[in-house]
Amino acid sequence: MVDQLPKPEVPRLITVANQKGGVGKTTSSVNLAAGLAMAGAKVLVIDLDPQGNASTALGAEHRAGTTSSYELLIGEATAEEAVQPSTASENLFCIPATIDLAGAEIELVSLVRREYRLYDALRGSGFLADNDFDYVLIDCPPSLGLLTINAMTAVDEVLIPIQCEYYALEGVGQLLNNISMIRQHLNTNLHISAILLTMYDARTKLSEQVATEVRAHFGDVVLGSIIPRSVKVSEAPGFGQTVLSYDPLSRGAGAYLEAVTEFATRGDFLPVESTGPIGVSPETAQRLAAESER
Ligand SMILES: Nc1ncnc2c1ncn2[C@@H]1O[C@H](COP(=O)(O)OP(=O)(O)OP(=O)(O)O)[C@@H](O)[C@H]1O
Ligand SMILES: [Mg+2]
Repeated sequence: MVDQLPKPEVPRLITVANQKGGVGKTTSSVNLAAGLAMAGAKVLVIDLDPQGNASTALGAEHRAGTTSSYELLIGEATAEEAVQPSTASENLFCIPATIDLAGAEIELVSLVRREYRLYDALRGSGFLADNDFDYVLIDCPPSLGLLTINAMTAVDEVLIPIQCEYYALEGVGQLLNNISMIRQHLNTNLHISAILLTMYDARTKLSEQVATEVRAHFGDVVLGSIIPRSVKVSEAPGFGQTVLSYDPLSRGAGAYLEAVTEFATRGDFLPVESTGPIGVSPETAQRLAAESER
């Protein structure tokens, strides 16, 4: 049984992004979403990755031809038509991704308001207001193309998972630049509200070094909860489940529930002056950008 958590006063919309592949975006999206739902919130996960891994983990149908985030972006379906209940919790819903989404980056280029297709489908249509979701989490593909841009114009918050491994910060500078640019030109509300350390291996010095370095760069926006590397976490999607239902007593499940509690109780982490407009200091953004250009 999971303790009930306070619901946010206004719905929180969060894009889970890092253009580096395999850092735990999907795992974090589905487990945070499932944990929030178990704690009493009404939660929607939007799968914006053609791989459809979040859809699989949430038990959502996503065979080719299923009404999905692709039809939503292209304007062939409404969010109401694309949304499905998840098998993970009765409070949890999913707009799945199918392989059709693989062509969307190119198809979107010629469409009107190409950066705001998701915003229009969710907010412009009244779908969000009508369904009173407490949280919407958007799982992004490992790229900074139009799919990720659509995710970032539709939300206020960005959650960045960082894997405690070699080259953990690779590309993060570029990600920060993109967030700054989107904030300047497309969505003035966009900011980083959480950084989540994933796949932490307590046996290695490296994991500890990465965690220390990330905290030194980003400060309090980094969640105190850390997700350990755990076989149970990686096995769960193979059973169409989140780790919270697959093995609720595992360390991985415990860590995600801890992250859920922290993320929900601290609320949106709004940038303060010292952290700059995107939630990290301008110096950090510059330093990381310079490092990733090397
Ligand atoms: N805490 C963990 N412990 C062990 N394995 C994990 C953990 N988190 C994620 N994994 C595994 O690592 C791989 C990558 O994770 P995931 O799919 O969540 O990353 P991603 O950033 O969404 O990847 P992509 O960029 O391809 O979308 C998966 O096989 C997943 O099961
Ligand atoms: Mg993924």
